[in-house]
Amino acid sequence: MSNNTSESRRKFLQQLGSTSLLLASNPLSSFASREKAEERILRYQKKFTANDQVNVAVIGFGIQGHMDVGTALKVPGVKLVAACDLYKGRLLNAKEMYGNDIFTTQNYQEILDRKDVDAVIIATSDHWHARITKEALKKGKHIYCEKPMVHYISEGMGVVEAAKASNKIVQVGSQRVSSVVFAKAQELLKSGEIGKLNMVNAVYDRQSSIGAWEYTMPSDASPETVDWNKYVEGMNKQSWDPKKFFWWRNYKDFGTGVAGDLFVHLLSGTHFITGSKGPEKIFAAGQLSYWKDGRDVPDVMTGIIQYPDSPEHPAFELTLQVNFISGTGGSESTKFVGEEGVIEIKNNGLTVHHSIMPKAPGFGGYDAVFTYPKAMQDTLTQQYNAKYTADEKKAVSKPDINFKAPTGYNEHLDHHTHFFDAIRTNGTVVEDATFGFRAAAPALACNASYFEKKIINWDPVNMKLKP
Ligand SMILES: NC(=O)c1ccc[n+]([C@@H]2O[C@H](COP(=O)([O-])OP(=O)(O)OC[C@H]3O[C@@H](n4cnc5c(N)ncnc54)[C@H](O)[C@@H]3O)[C@@H](O)[C@H]2O)c1
Repeated sequence: MSNNTSESRRKFLQQLGSTSLLLASNPLSSFASREKAEERILRYQKKFTANDQVNVAVIGFGIQGHMDVGTALKVPGVKLVAACDLYKGRLLNAKEMYGNDIFTTQNYQEILDRKDVDAVIIATSDHWHARITKEALKKGKHIYCEKPMVHYISEGMGVVEAAKASNKIVQVGSQRVSSVVFAKAQELLKSGEIGKLNMVNAVYDRQSSIGAWEYTMPSDASPETVDWNKYVEGMNKQSWDPKKFFWWRNYKDFGTGVAGDLFVHLLSGTHFITGSKGPEKIFAAGQLSYWKDGRDVPDVMTGIIQYPDSPEHPAFELTLQVNFISGTGGSESTKFVGEEGVIEIKNNGLTVHHSIMPKAPGFGGYDAVFTYPKAMQDTLTQQYNAKYTADEKKAVSKPDINFKAPTGYNEHLDHHTHFFDAIRTNGTVVEDATFGFRAAAPALACNASYFEKKIINWDPVNMKLKP
């Protein structure tokens, strides 16, 4: 193992040591999450041999490709050996950031052919995810593929089957499933802290041009610097359009709109916490309110999703909301609502608020009693008081509980750690291809519902659309 690797491992351990423990304001803070975090630290204290080094290559070195590589390299023993992108400026940037030894190319097949690449990070626009994942698995690579795992529902089973046949690790990139906050929410829901779940409300609102995907374009954008033909390979012929390349999220042919981009995170988090395999009915409405820049997807969208009673959870409704021109200034939160309280995940922490109904039914106040004759009011009051004790009439009160991840806590690092851990131990990951498809399908079904103006029926166990 090189000195560099030891150094980065040391840095990583220091970082984990100072940030990985979940701080809680309440004695309910379980030891489970602490133990889990400490276990991870211990695992990385083992000595790596040269064989333990995992060589990665990135395919799609845009914004998220940069984030993924930067995070992956914080995991000890991970080395970047190659980078692929269709825009030449990003290949130059790869060498500027990681040195001239990095192999760079515009053709991802050259990356897959390399014997020195163990794992690929796929961070291209959505329309390439399934194709590259399947080809890379055939070439024996481990896969970290960004969400949504697929562009179309029809691609899902192909990826699931390719992953199963490969014996390689496939992890999809909704990093919140590796978050200590989400693990705590899962534990609290399972332990009955909010009673029986019946509703989840998830919101992802923004109010900025960058939030609405209008990124600054490079000054040299042209067919000379971008391999446009590769970008649209296998599609109906389309002429060069820098917006369709650099603002690809705005176009159905390349991206998956707010549903595939953001609902999918909310779905992944919900499935992780509830253990769900997915919903059975999906409906979405939307509109293009503000960002009329040529995009063919809505900028305000709501999904209403029905989860059936299942061995993993009771029946519940999920509402999903994205508003890209929200006068709230933007906010992100997921609320799990049960019969006895709410778990709200927000700002790298969570709050449990309890509200427990009294055993006795309501009587008096804003009730019909006062509209009856006086004598009847008196009798009804006497009967009620005789039937219920003072305790039964009182609502049970329980204090709120707050949990907060430590300052600087990085769920993305935990997600990458899980990926490289699984590669090294031949283990498993939570967000495998099946999980990835089960989260992507309802998100993509929201698009189908919006564009086709109908309710989409889904079989979550067999992962199939139903008539
Ligand atoms: N997990 C997260 O929180 C998160 C955050 C942002 C983006 N993402 C996902 O990451 C992916 C990339 O998003 P982004 O914001 O980085 O986009 P981006 O436009 O910044 O980068 C995408 C890059 O992919 C390259 N590309 C496209 N097709 C290619 C191909 N066939 N071969 C090689 N390179 C190709 C493009 O040249 C471009 O540079 C998307 O799937 C997105 O949903 C995930």
